[in-house]
Amino acid sequence: MESKCPVKFHNVDFCDPKTHDNPYEMYDHFLEHEPLYFDEANGVWEVFRYDDIVAIERDTETFINGEGVRPNIPPDPAMIYQDGEQHNKQRALVSSAFTPRQMRKMENRVRVIVKDLVDQMLVKDEVDIVTDLAAALPMRLIADMLAIPEEKRPAVQQWINGIMMGGCGPEYVTDEVNECFEHFVMHHEEMVQDRLAAGCKGSDILTIWMNAEINGEKLDESQLLFEHVLLNVGGAETTRSAIAGGLERLSNDSRQYDALYEDPSLIPNAVEEIIRWVCPFVNMYRTATRDYEMHGKIIKEGQQVGLTYPAANRDPRKYKDPHTFNIFRDFTQEAKHLSFGLGPHFCLGASLARMEIRLSLEEMTQRVKSIRIPKGKEPEYVSSSFTRGLKSFPAILEPR
Ligand code: HEM
Repeated sequence: MESKCPVKFHNVDFCDPKTHDNPYEMYDHFLEHEPLYFDEANGVWEVFRYDDIVAIERDTETFINGEGVRPNIPPDPAMIYQDGEQHNKQRALVSSAFTPRQMRKMENRVRVIVKDLVDQMLVKDEVDIVTDLAAALPMRLIADMLAIPEEKRPAVQQWINGIMMGGCGPEYVTDEVNECFEHFVMHHEEMVQDRLAAGCKGSDILTIWMNAEINGEKLDESQLLFEHVLLNVGGAETTRSAIAGGLERLSNDSRQYDALYEDPSLIPNAVEEIIRWVCPFVNMYRTATRDYEMHGKIIKEGQQVGLTYPAANRDPRKYKDPHTFNIFRDFTQEAKHLSFGLGPHFCLGASLARMEIRLSLEEMTQRVKSIRIPKGKEPEYVSSSFTRGLKSFPAILEPR
C-alpha cells in the first residue's frame, strides 16, 4: 500500500510546462507515493515507475498509439500514431536509413562535421554550445538526410521548435504554433514540388516516401506531410538536449570529463548515462482499449496514460543513487534507460542520436580542456511538458 501523499503535490497539471521545471522532487514523490496518478486538470493518467512503463509499452493490445501520443491531441497519419501492421509497414519504409550498419557508413562524414563545428568554436572567445554544436549537428544531419536546401535550414529549425510546443496539450497550440506549422507546410510543399520536377530520382528520405507504396498504394498527401514533420521533430530537439545537457553536466565535473579524455573507450557508456540522465522527452501517451487495473485504480477504456520517462530513469527500484550522474554506471547490472521508449515504437533514430552524442563527446574531450560558464551568465532551459533541455549554454572553451 502506498503511503500518504503530502499536500504539496495535489492537483498537479502535467501538461503545464512549469510542472516539469526542476521536476525530480515531484517525480520522486509520485514514484514512491502515487505511482499511478489521475491528472484532473487534463483528464489523463500518469505513470512513473520503470516496471509500469515497461508493462504498458509491451501490452500493445491494451495500450495503443492510434488515439494519440500527446495529451488530448488527436492523432495524425505519421508512423508514431499507427498500431500493428500499419505501423510496421510505415516504419519499414525508412527504417533501413537508420540502422546501426547505415550509421557506421555515415560515421566518417559525421566526424568531419563535428570536427568542423568544434574548430569554429575554438576560434571564438565565447560560444553558445547549444547554437554552435548541440543544435547545429542534429539539424545538419537530418537536413542532409531530407536534402533540405542550405538556406532554409535555420528557418525549418525555428518552425520545428515552435511546433514542438504544441505537443504540451491543446491549450498550448497557440497562434504562434499554428503559424510555425503553416510555414512548415509551405516548405514541405515546395520540397515535394522540387522533387516532382526532378522526376523523384533522389535518394533523400522525402523522395523515398514519395516513391513508396503500401499495399500497392502511394502515401497520400497528409501521410507524406506528417511523416516529414515527425522526422524533423524526432531528429532535432531531442539530440540537441542530450548533447548540450551532457556537456553541461560534465563541465561541472572535471573528474568525469577528464576520465573520458584519458580513456575514450568509456564514452559509449557515458552516452547512455547522458541519455538516461537528461531524458529529453518528458512523456509519450497511450490510450487504453479496455479497463485496466494498476495499483488498485482503474484506467478506463478510452482514457490516456502518460509514460513519464525521466521519472522511470530515476526509479530507485532500478538504479543505484538514481540522481547521481555517473559515467561508470553499470547498465548490465542496472536497467537500460527508457529515454528511447520501448517496443514497436522504440526510437527510430536511436543509433543516429547515439552516434551524434558519442562523436561530440570524443571531439570535445580530446580538443577542449575545460568548459567554463562566463561570469554573470547562466545556461537557460526550455520550459516544456513534451521535450526539455537547454536552449542556451554560454561557455568559454579552454583548448588542450
Ligand atoms: C537523444 C535523442 C532522442 C530521444 C531521447 C528520442 C526519444 C524517442 C522516444 C521516447 C520515442 C517514442 C518511443 C515510444 O513511444 O516507445 C521516439 C520515437 C521516434 N523517434 Fe526518437 N529520440 C531521439 C532522437 C531521434 C532522432 C535523431 C530521430 C530521427 C532522425 C528520431 C526519430 C524518431 C521517430 C521517427 C520515432 C517514431 C518511431 C515509431 O513510431 O515507430 N528520434 N524517440
